[in-house]
Amino acid sequence: MRVLFVCLGNICRSPTAEAATFEALEDVGIAGLVTLDSAGIGDWHVGNPPDRRMRAAADDAGLHLTGRARQVTATELADWDLILAMDRSNLDELRAMAPSAEVRDRVRLFREFDGDADHSEVPDPYYGGPHGFVEVVRICRAAAAGLADELAHRVDRELDA
Ligand code: 4NP
Repeated sequence: MRVLFVCLGNICRSPTAEAATFEALEDVGIAGLVTLDSAGIGDWHVGNPPDRRMRAAADDAGLHLTGRARQVTATELADWDLILAMDRSNLDELRAMAPSAEVRDRVRLFREFDGDADHSEVPDPYYGGPHGFVEVVRICRAAAAGLADELAHRVDRELDA
């Protein structure tokens, strides 16, 4: 199973979603069975580590962000089982890039997996204050828990097949 998280810059939301999902997969015992990565729609921050403010909020919550920003490519989309967008703008861009209807259907909103979510998007924290980054961590952890449950079901189905 392979899951890609995508936001605009790949320095705030998608690295946090990836780290929160790894943590949630460890909790359900399938971290070794799922490949995770993140990427950005834009190329402004390619090669950079996660945003300092995002890392600070994540560290405060015990979540360690890793990796360097990269830009998503249309050709890689077919290589992922799930492509999870942080907001509707990311979702629309990814669906427009998808090479086929089948791949387009793998593009979903990350927060769909949080049944209790009050909103479908992870709000962009980049131009806001510190609270926005704290919120990203909270939102990502909640969605990651639901996603990990869904992935555990998928892994079970694959093992049964
Ligand atoms: P992200 O946040 O999409 O969550 O990584 C942003 C990072 C950079 C920019 C916007 C959002 N930017 O405009 O450079």
